[in-house]
Amino acid sequence: MNAPVYSGRFITLEGGEGAGKSTNAAYFAEQLEAAGIRLRVTREPGGTRLGERIRELLLDPESDGMHADTELLLMFAARAQHLNEVILPALQAGEWVLCDRFTDATYAYQGGGRGIDMQRIAELETWVQQGFQPDMTILFDLPVETGLARAGERGALDRFEQEQKSFFTAVREAYLQRAKQYPGRFRIIDAAKQLDDVQRQLDTLVDELLTTQNVERTR
Ligand code: TMP
Repeated sequence: MNAPVYSGRFITLEGGEGAGKSTNAAYFAEQLEAAGIRLRVTREPGGTRLGERIRELLLDPESDGMHADTELLLMFAARAQHLNEVILPALQAGEWVLCDRFTDATYAYQGGGRGIDMQRIAELETWVQQGFQPDMTILFDLPVETGLARAGERGALDRFEQEQKSFFTAVREAYLQRAKQYPGRFRIIDAAKQLDDVQRQLDTLVDELLTTQNVERTR
């Protein structure tokens, strides 16, 4: 089946722990909204009432003993709900959607981190998304040590944040591998830099998105 037809843009934000995704998502959204874009900001796992309940199960440290396959299926269960209830309807209504994490996170965390065969993830991706992909994916990349030190300052750790450094090293490598594999949609931000430097990097992406938007409008 072909990817669904829609008119909005789907932009995803990715990165390891402590990469400053949430702070920068707010900045990025402000810039797009100031330019007159109707934007829906959402996240995964979550983004729907049901998806947020699945998120609680996934992040709760008391869900220890969760099998990697269960984790993978729950990620895609939440995603199926999110896609059908929020993302696709918004795009079809002409809104843009900015999503804090999407399927590249599954390749990075469940594939890289947990060691699940990427091909099995690809099968679920096809099953749930039927070819649907982000228009742009912004990867906030930084050394694992820097990210973990930043994340550690935030207090109570969730089930993923409690993982070992080797897990996050594998997550980072898998993300960078995805970026290499899909250079057309990935943009890498150097998230180790100071906040104002990161924001300047994001400004160029906002310009890129708005320029291509105008080109499409004048076609
Ligand atoms: P967050 O901390 O960015 O809100 O994300 C919650 C956690 O869920 C984060 O540790 C990454 C993890 N995650 C996966 O393992 N696989 C996925 O597909 C997604 C979307 C998130």
